[in-house]
Amino acid sequence: MNAITSTAPSPRPSPPGETENKLDGSGLHLALLIEEGRGEWHARRIVRSLEAMGARVTVSSLPHCAFDTALASGIDIPGFKGELPDGVFVRSISAGTLEQITFRLGLLHALRESGVRVWNDARVVERCVDKSQTTFLLHKAGIATPRTRVCETEAHARDYTADLARTLVMKPLFGSQGKGIGQITSPEQLPPGAAVDHIYYMQDFVTPADDVFEDWRVLATRHRIVAAMTRRGKTWVTNIHQGAAARTHTPDAEMAAISMAAMRAIDADYAGIDLIRTAKGELQVLEVNSNPAWRGLQSVADINIAQAIAEDFLVTVLAHRSAQRAAT
Ligand SMILES: Nc1ncnc2c1ncn2[C@@H]1O[C@H](COP(=O)(O)OP(=O)(O)O)[C@@H](O)[C@H]1O
Ligand SMILES: [Mg+2]
Repeated sequence: MNAITSTAPSPRPSPPGETENKLDGSGLHLALLIEEGRGEWHARRIVRSLEAMGARVTVSSLPHCAFDTALASGIDIPGFKGELPDGVFVRSISAGTLEQITFRLGLLHALRESGVRVWNDARVVERCVDKSQTTFLLHKAGIATPRTRVCETEAHARDYTADLARTLVMKPLFGSQGKGIGQITSPEQLPPGAAVDHIYYMQDFVTPADDVFEDWRVLATRHRIVAAMTRRGKTWVTNIHQGAAARTHTPDAEMAAISMAAMRAIDADYAGIDLIRTAKGELQVLEVNSNPAWRGLQSVADINIAQAIAEDFLVTVLAHRSAQRAAT
């Protein structure tokens, strides 16, 4: 499948197809932040693509970065000797305690506030890690998403489900890969507060037409749709990690438009958008992932996904640098 240029891309110097041989990252020193302790399949491919365009890339993880008031920048990223990178690509913020995650998001906020272009920056990661925030922003932007109520305490969840005449999906607020997702059809099935960290994310179940459990994953950058796949599951949870089968998919104008609208609602630089179709045919956004993996998608896509993402990252970093130079 070829890259599909969205009908409404954000402004950029020129489409990647045209700039492929002209993008010049020489003189740039970029940081790629990956999950700690992982030999990262995705990272290797992003590094290779960025280096092929002339950029220097240092791979590290947020748990190895520090705030340090002995440095003029105040930020210590391994390999940068207290200098700031020209751009930061966040592949993962790494697992950690609430304090560790808060600290790491603080580092990403600090980088942005210091003028560094961070892909995706802390605000986007926060909007996507917390599923309730994503849902709210989609709703606020007028993007179709299943009816959802997110609240604290079992008592409030019971109020909401008292006269339940439909199936609800319950999701962990920080969930991913389909883990911890369940269905309820009555208040008696509500899990106790402790089992859901005292947050009840309750979303209307989108009943599939013809008992086919299928949804779509679209991978996009702020500039274009990169690739997409249909995921067909043996159960209603169609994540690849839950055993669903992937097939390449070419989004039509409707799917491209809702995906790019979701990107703008979150203000994401790159993201994975999960979409589902109701039995009546309406396309709805289930969630937006700010640190999407694309190994499964790459296995069915024709385009080199890492190359496309690296190009779009570099275009953005170069444009950011030009804008900064013009402002001084
Ligand atoms: N409201 C829903 N109706 C029907 N299926 C759903 C709904 N929400 C989630 N699913 C199924 O569960 C999967 C995982 O849900 P998702 O919201 O994407 O969370 P995760 O972060 O775990 O991937 C989806 O890909 C879809 O197959
Ligand atoms: Mg998902």
